Amino acid sequence: MIGDPVNRPVMEGLRLNVPAYVRHARLVDWVARVAALTEAAEVYWCDGSQAEYDRLAARLVEAGTLTPLNPTLRPRSFLARSSPSDVARVEDRTFICSARQEDAGPTNNWVDPAEMRQRLETGPDALFRGAMRGRTLYVVPFSMGPLGSHISHIGVELTDSPYVAVSMRVMTRMGRGALDVLGEHGEFVPCVHTVGAPLAAGQADVPWPCNATKYIVHYPETREIWSYGSGYGGNALLGKKCFALRIASTMGRDQGWLAEHMLVLGVTSPQGKKYHVAAAFPSACGKTNFAMLVPPQGYAGWKVTTIGDDIAWIKPGPDGRLVAINPEAGYFGVAPGTNRKTNPNCMDSLKSDVIFTNVALTDEGDVWWEGMTDEPPAHLTDWQGRDWTPELAQAEAASGKPRPAAHPNARFTVAATNNPVLDAEWDNAAGVPIDAFIFGGRRSTTVPLVTEARNWVEGVYMAATMGSETTAAAAGQQGVVRRDPFAMLPFTGYNMADYFQHWLSMGKAIPAAARPKIYCVNWFRKGADGKFVWPGYGENMRVLEWMIGRIEGRAGGQENVFGISPRHDDLRWEGLPFTREQYASVIGIDRDAWQRELALHAELFQMLAHHLPPELPATREQLSVRLAAGAAAP
Ligand code: OXD
Ligand code: MN
Repeated sequence: MIGDPVNRPVMEGLRLNVPAYVRHARLVDWVARVAALTEAAEVYWCDGSQAEYDRLAARLVEAGTLTPLNPTLRPRSFLARSSPSDVARVEDRTFICSARQEDAGPTNNWVDPAEMRQRLETGPDALFRGAMRGRTLYVVPFSMGPLGSHISHIGVELTDSPYVAVSMRVMTRMGRGALDVLGEHGEFVPCVHTVGAPLAAGQADVPWPCNATKYIVHYPETREIWSYGSGYGGNALLGKKCFALRIASTMGRDQGWLAEHMLVLGVTSPQGKKYHVAAAFPSACGKTNFAMLVPPQGYAGWKVTTIGDDIAWIKPGPDGRLVAINPEAGYFGVAPGTNRKTNPNCMDSLKSDVIFTNVALTDEGDVWWEGMTDEPPAHLTDWQGRDWTPELAQAEAASGKPRPAAHPNARFTVAATNNPVLDAEWDNAAGVPIDAFIFGGRRSTTVPLVTEARNWVEGVYMAATMGSETTAAAAGQQGVVRRDPFAMLPFTGYNMADYFQHWLSMGKAIPAAARPKIYCVNWFRKGADGKFVWPGYGENMRVLEWMIGRIEGRAGGQENVFGISPRHDDLRWEGLPFTREQYASVIGIDRDAWQRELALHAELFQMLAHHLPPELPATREQLSVRLAAGAAAP
């Protein structure tokens, strides 16, 4: 036990308040150093209990950060409204500060770690110096993954945001249990977070403190995260993108495992055979909908269950197969577009115990967002607290300045245990075996509905060259195609070319019979009328069933330039009138479009040329030759 000596004041008036159950001297020492640097007014150790959550939530209500929702309509739920300047991940302010620039690679922002430490911690104007003045430093211990799993890892976030502390309780296994796993000497990833808004004596706080200057910084060698200036989502809930993807991907590279931007779902057939697939999609490509898919008419007896909706940690299991866990314990999902038709399971998950951020408030004290209902309510309070009516919105849209009631990146934060289709194994410390990987972007043209890679290298190629039309989860330009390898562009914590190599090496290490199949999908092809051709949502089950048929060696398919795709007759159409012509328009390969696409792959490879595994340009060359041969055929 850590005795009183460590509870001595670290600065005048500041005690560390270390609970008796904390046994990790290095952790206490680090908390003391950060408290001293940031000049926090108080230190509070989160135990993760419900009572603590309720207390912090009440304090957030008092501060105006949270508004309680109508307890009849949305029990134990809250609405937070962020500052309009703090609504999304800030990729241009996200840094991988590896010792060598080439280890961050061309897709990451890099600053020399010594220089970054000057800016944040050690320089005369270091941003973290005094950053928590007037605020409480919350010590938030958490486990990414089931407590004690050999696949899990522990982190500790020091934050001056109680909104972050309560959100971390929803999103991770947070509190005393994580410290018990850590014991006296366990390894943890230190995460320091401040909203960057110190309070002078007597200064009143604002509901959403933040700073115009933002830094989301990762030191891969020392596995540290330092985040400054934002209170929102992935910028601030450091277990998620910062730890579970950027830092964990470097851990995976060094230790022989994978940290991926993937949902994991279970599919059980009417015969009771269960498969698990891990699927990577960029943000807002229907990832949550896929993870909670409701099988359509004609699929009686089939069950889809959720293990995770966003991130998977995947390690070789005892028999050589890859096994996966969801390192998170909650969902931080995009609300707009979610409704009873697109995702009834998600809507059911949101019935109670939810923290909503930047959605609209109804006059009855419930929430609303664009796409939730066909007809918007007659009056709302928008995500910035202003009056909103459909008429006002129409007028503003007509004047070229649309003002949605909910921010397009508005979110819900909810425990996984709220999900009615949560997989029984979701918290299994052993993980679940992965049978297939799926990669999919949002592409209105070019990429077919589904293609199976002929081998691991071709699958890695598909994933490496993925592109997607951009969405609202990241600040910046929307609607343009950006290459998003493995849906990991903003999340790979090291050189992307080395990451491709790591995937190739992992494939080699898996016995051939145990190697998951790899698929590329695209639910988003549009017809000449500009409308989506594939109905998506539950109908994606037809594609999943085909994949399972392929895994079992019974489903047919036809080889094309790019891989193997199902013919119309290879899919089950019961309950869905989808003509051969419609099917041709989502599965077909347009040679000109693919020629342009391959040229873009070459550009990507050019950008990543340093360290690029030669297998990838070689695969491009083969595809190019096949395409030319196909084009020459009658
Ligand atoms: C997310 C994202 O929030 O990918 O999950 O942006
Ligand atoms: Mn994500």
